Amino acid sequence: MRKDRAEKAYVLGIHTRYDTRYHAQESLEEAKNLVITAGAELTGNEFVEIRQFHPATFFGQGKVEEVKQTLLNLKPDVVIVDHELSSVQVRNLENTWCTRVIDRTELILDIFAQRAESKEGKLQVELAQYQYLLPRLVGAWTHFSKQKGGIGLRGPGETQLEVDRRRVRERIAMIKKNLKKVISSRQIHREKRLAVPIPTISLVGYTNAGKTTLFNQISGATELAENKLFATLDPKTRKIRLPSGQKILMSDTVGFIRNLPHQLVDSFTSTFEEVAASGLLLHVIDVSHPDRAQQIETVENLISDLGLSDKPIIRVMNKVDRLDEGLEGLIEENSLHNVIKVSALENMGINTLLSKIEDKLSQCYYRRMNLLIPHADGKILNELYTHCSVISSTNTPQGAQIEVNLPPKWQALYGDYEVA
Ligand code: GTP
Repeated sequence: MRKDRAEKAYVLGIHTRYDTRYHAQESLEEAKNLVITAGAELTGNEFVEIRQFHPATFFGQGKVEEVKQTLLNLKPDVVIVDHELSSVQVRNLENTWCTRVIDRTELILDIFAQRAESKEGKLQVELAQYQYLLPRLVGAWTHFSKQKGGIGLRGPGETQLEVDRRRVRERIAMIKKNLKKVISSRQIHREKRLAVPIPTISLVGYTNAGKTTLFNQISGATELAENKLFATLDPKTRKIRLPSGQKILMSDTVGFIRNLPHQLVDSFTSTFEEVAASGLLLHVIDVSHPDRAQQIETVENLISDLGLSDKPIIRVMNKVDRLDEGLEGLIEENSLHNVIKVSALENMGINTLLSKIEDKLSQCYYRRMNLLIPHADGKILNELYTHCSVISSTNTPQGAQIEVNLPPKWQALYGDYEVA
């Protein structure tokens, strides 16, 4: 959607019987923010109740005509429908409205394409875009088949379709191959990192919840935090120190959103692998957002879809500086388990959060072990002192008996030295 002059966009919010009116309205608000994030200018919006889906035009004929009149006055460059549309529906609406029509998935893909910086990020978004395009090529060419009539469908249109499909498939295969190379070098890097027993924790959360602001506040990084959706696309990792002096790695990851295009979820698996390799997740929640309950649900469903539900998690209620007393009371009443309240922007509650991270890691990541390290293995003792938190140590005739918190990999590695 990037152009010299900002494109003018008209947004249609959709309420179907599968959703509540409140959520549909929140989704429209979100779509308006997505449009601004994509760099377009909002010329207007409306909310449409859909009782029945129309295969050819999505909306009923009356609504299509009504919108046409509005568009004649506003003359937007593009109409955004906050729902998934088939290619046939897009084409029919474009023909009637004489303007470009895009659906929610395409809008999100466009933003991701603009935001991707790293080679891996760019390849992932390109892959998602081609995967979105592939099934849509069918619709784009059916009019040729129809012109040819029912018999002899394998006319020039169909042939062209096959050519286009093959090209797209070839491109997808090529991107996957390149992506594999980039990912394998990142995997080597990650494995090296995991060999050193420093736990990684990942910030996850709904887009705009304040993950990057929190990441900057804790790590002293200066990553761009913006009041725009999906400011962070490529995961960033930094070393930080907990109050006890223990070192951990913290990763800032891509924001989640409801109805995240599945093509993106598929192609972003390596980003999510970063999350999967973490010992602990911090779920950052914008507590001041009216739709926070739905946002929490969206993120937790995605975590579950990614098969990560068994990861230890701390819920971080961010933006508490925005809460008035009434709302704060409400949150106390409905208090969720495992919650820490912070304001990343105002630097409130950060030390409590760091202590909570420390507690949680000692409960579910480390295991306290008693080891007897023979005098001859002084090198091992040295390693343990360098990388782990040694709680106590006694010198015995057989060697050094130490009490130490060991990360998962090292628990097995030094299991032979364990004493009761
Ligand atoms: P994505 O990149 O979209 O995933 O966003 P994010 O979760 O990384 O959010 P980001 O840190 O970019 O912050 C989004 C907006 O919220 C910015 O305008 C921040 O200044 C604002 N923000 C973040 N934390 C706080 C907070 O504690 N209080 C207030 N009032 N605003 C905050």
